[in-house]
Amino acid sequence: MISVRRTAARTLSANAINAGYDRADVLKDVTIEVRPGTVTAILGANGAGKSTLIRAILGLTRIRKGEVRFGHVATTNMPTHKIAALGIATVPEGNRVMPRMSVLDNLKVGGLIMRDDRRVAARMEEMFEVFPRLKERRSQLAGTLSGGERSMLSIARGLMADPELVIFDEPSLGLSPLFVSEVFGIVRQLKTAGLSVLLIEQNVRQTLDVADYGYVLAQGLVVAKGSAELLKENSELHKAYFGIH
Ligand SMILES: Nc1ncnc2c1ncn2[C@@H]1O[C@H](COP(=O)(O)OP(=O)(O)OP(=O)(O)O)[C@@H](O)[C@H]1O
Ligand SMILES: [Mg+2]
Repeated sequence: MISVRRTAARTLSANAINAGYDRADVLKDVTIEVRPGTVTAILGANGAGKSTLIRAILGLTRIRKGEVRFGHVATTNMPTHKIAALGIATVPEGNRVMPRMSVLDNLKVGGLIMRDDRRVAARMEEMFEVFPRLKERRSQLAGTLSGGERSMLSIARGLMADPELVIFDEPSLGLSPLFVSEVFGIVRQLKTAGLSVLLIEQNVRQTLDVADYGYVLAQGLVVAKGSAELLKENSELHKAYFGIH
């Protein structure tokens, strides 16, 4: 079981944000909210702007209009490491890890913001309990792990800093069904432990099974939102945006 020192208490909100690359805005007037202790999903096709939304929230893509808040702190365009220090962790698109570093060193980097070697070591032991495979492979270079193992490392690295909110960008992409279930199982565990999760996925059914609330993005706009139950039942939405009939 994943242990946490604190349960989520703050709401993450993006209020009418525009963000993009070069001149054009990708996100147009996007408003979303992740309430404490919920799993909130962002669904949408390739190129809808899902990763751009996450990047904007994390201070990686410039926000040109609107505001992001975490609790009472305005985090709009704040440096990424400061946003992380507030308790927001991310598992990036493609489950990226540092390939030339060992599993152990990847985890240490994840714990850097704790600035406390003993806490980092203790947290690493917890991660090894949750992901025994990573313990077996702790000295191995991350670049030599299998896709499934790499995704576990990417998740464990995000959890090292004992976050309050975890943002996942398509964690199940390219994984075998066994690892896909493992990823969704971890999301469930995080929710049970009282953390908040912002989950970007294209795996619509499994996502709506674990989520409380969801938003559908299309061409940078929020085109639908609602409880996961309502989104699940809306067959028009499935036809229009998910290609499922
Ligand atoms: N670095 C970049 N420079 C310029 N345009 C970009 C950049 N990254 C993304 N875009 C454009 O922004 C739009 C949204 O891309 P984004 O990556 O946010 O979509 P996405 O919903 O995450 O898609 P996917 O499901 O394929 O990951 C796309 O039209 C994309 O081409
Ligand atoms: Mg993306």
